[in-house]
Amino acid sequence: MKATAVAHPNLALVKYWGKRDEALILPQQSSLSLTIAPLEVRTTVELGGRGEDVILNGKDATEKERDRVVQLVSALAREAGVEPRGLRMISRGNFPAAAGLASSAAAFAALAVATRAALGLPRDVRAESIAARRGSGSASRSIEGGFCVWHRGSAADGSDSYAEAIFDEAHWPEVRMVVAVVDQGEKKVKSRDGMRLTQETSPYYPAWVASTEREIAPATELIRRRDLAGLGALAERNAWRMHASAMAAEPPVCYLKPRTLEMIQRIEGARDDGLRAWFTLDAGPNPVILTERSQLEEVEQLLRACGAIEVTRCEPGRGARVVEEHLF
Ligand code: PMV
Repeated sequence: MKATAVAHPNLALVKYWGKRDEALILPQQSSLSLTIAPLEVRTTVELGGRGEDVILNGKDATEKERDRVVQLVSALAREAGVEPRGLRMISRGNFPAAAGLASSAAAFAALAVATRAALGLPRDVRAESIAARRGSGSASRSIEGGFCVWHRGSAADGSDSYAEAIFDEAHWPEVRMVVAVVDQGEKKVKSRDGMRLTQETSPYYPAWVASTEREIAPATELIRRRDLAGLGALAERNAWRMHASAMAAEPPVCYLKPRTLEMIQRIEGARDDGLRAWFTLDAGPNPVILTERSQLEEVEQLLRACGAIEVTRCEPGRGARVVEEHLF
């Protein structure tokens, strides 16, 4: 009972921020993302045997990390009618933590696909997305390639809260996302805590939920038409609204650093001179730039001139898949 899977991270253009069920990780609203290559996480899972051995990027997992992995694997085993006993799991990403990208989305997507394969279950995108979601919400969107929508769903058991591709990775070959690292320090408030605090205390939170759900249809149409300017404006607006709702929490949650704002404003300024680039921002200080292939040199130059420590260029990536090359 051993299998290996590869998955890419994803970056949200319409963000997920807040849960309606903490245990099942059910979101308050739908979200939309692009799965990105060439960054990837490879995970090998072996079930049976003795003990619980979890190694992430060459290091023993912390207790908390191991618990999340074991919880997901045990739940899948029980669903498959297998006694959850013994686990060896090794996971490795091809990008450094310093790249400014949360690897958890790719990691939980690869874990869900590898575990189901190790249990002998057939490929099933919806079941895999639901399993990945229970590890980390955004991981639900890394099962498929290209542009994906994570449907909010309404069932209490989460059976209709999963992500699926709306356009595959070949739909828009020119589109790019560039991650700029401005700060490598650990963030003070993890997304899990930041979203909970926003939801519980920010008077702007209900407005965030309502306005975001309404963005999915127009965003889908802009992607269908490959309208970069339209999609860029929508993504920027969505990021500002997420951060505004967080800043209005009690105590306030602010992920921006001075350099973040400087970069964002330089991007806005360069647009007046014809640069085709827009930003988005997750729960951290590192801007992500939505652009197209022809603009990459200019975008990177601008980001470096603003003090980016690391710049990572990404393109549309494929969905998670089972591979033959095991890590052990
Ligand atoms: O899935 P999590 O807990 O890493 O939360 C991700 C939240 C954001 O990155 C801020 C937005 C998103 O949709 O990815």
